[in-house]
Amino acid sequence: MTENTHTAAVRDALTPDQLAFLAAAGGAAPSLHNSQPWRFRATGDRRALLVLRDPSRAVPATDPTGRALHVSVGAAVLNLRVAAAALGVEAQLHLLPDPQQLDLLARLDFARPEPDAGPLPDAELYPAVAERHTSRQPFANRDVPEQLVGELMAAADHEGVVLAMLEEYETRRVLALTADAERRTAADAAREAEARSWVRLEAPATDGIPAEALGPLDHDAHVPVRSFTGHPPTSVPRSAHFEALPQLATFTTAHDDRSAWVRTGMALERVWLLATAHGLRASVLHQAVEWPDTRWQLRDPETGPGYVQIILRLGYGPAGAATPRRPVAEILQLS
Ligand SMILES: Cc1cc2nc3c(=O)[nH]c(=O)nc-3n(C[C@H](O)[C@H](O)[C@H](O)COP(=O)(O)O)c2cc1C
Repeated sequence: MTENTHTAAVRDALTPDQLAFLAAAGGAAPSLHNSQPWRFRATGDRRALLVLRDPSRAVPATDPTGRALHVSVGAAVLNLRVAAAALGVEAQLHLLPDPQQLDLLARLDFARPEPDAGPLPDAELYPAVAERHTSRQPFANRDVPEQLVGELMAAADHEGVVLAMLEEYETRRVLALTADAERRTAADAAREAEARSWVRLEAPATDGIPAEALGPLDHDAHVPVRSFTGHPPTSVPRSAHFEALPQLATFTTAHDDRSAWVRTGMALERVWLLATAHGLRASVLHQAVEWPDTRWQLRDPETGPGYVQIILRLGYGPAGAATPRRPVAEILQLS
């Protein structure tokens, strides 16, 4: 699938430094358990960047179909495009460009915009790439303004994904499904062990989740945050009072294929960056999407058919801690 925009011009070669700048932004994307399942490879003429999945960084017990892996890579694609815009370069997207190469998820062709085209709109999102962190802390009882909700919906729609901010009834239903899924995960030794294997409590690391990024459990048990350290948790046992009614956004696609998954990641990151730029915090509640039957029940009967891909909890509160990333040299291949 090709996406052409108004600025198509002469294809442009980037320098190694510019490519490293892009890769650092791509690598800052969110990913399941901070697994960072991506690789970037510049073409020989450096006029394009290939985005590949890295199957060696899969999370197979939790994500057997690779759906979340594709969502994570999609988030990295969005960051790459935003970073290119910050350099004044348009990165034209070709999704799944080669059916023979399953690892190749996207190609970005670089183009210099027309001189009078003005700054690329995505450049405004660039500062949020480094500011965005998952916040698993309690949020304030303060609504996201309706106008901003409209902007977040438009941001998801830009990538072909439907964002719905849930009303109270739907929110409670989705929280109950998430709690159910979290209980099942607790009873699944392989998933529990896998989640724990991505927690980095002591040694400095370049992936996984450090202790300071983990949040408290909900004292009132109505926000079922993921327990990364076991049931009952073996560390970070404290609990705190969460917001009375979390503000949840679902991301839904019409299809459930690889293209929809990558698009979901792009929409997730576009929404998350925009939210960050407006002072909002966010965390992902993914558990109910990880079990086929709870995922099926996530569908909102009111809004018709569609596949729920991810759930984001939005609100105002403390920033999350930064999580580590692999060095650019490990994820970027220059030729
Ligand atoms: C597909 C996907 C699923 C995720 N699921 C959860 C989740 O269920 N619970 C959670 O606390 N964080 C979840 N996360 C957030 C990641 O743990 C987080 O992005 C990663 O640790 C990197 O941290 P950062 O977002 O602060 O950069 C998910 C992220 C993605 C992309």
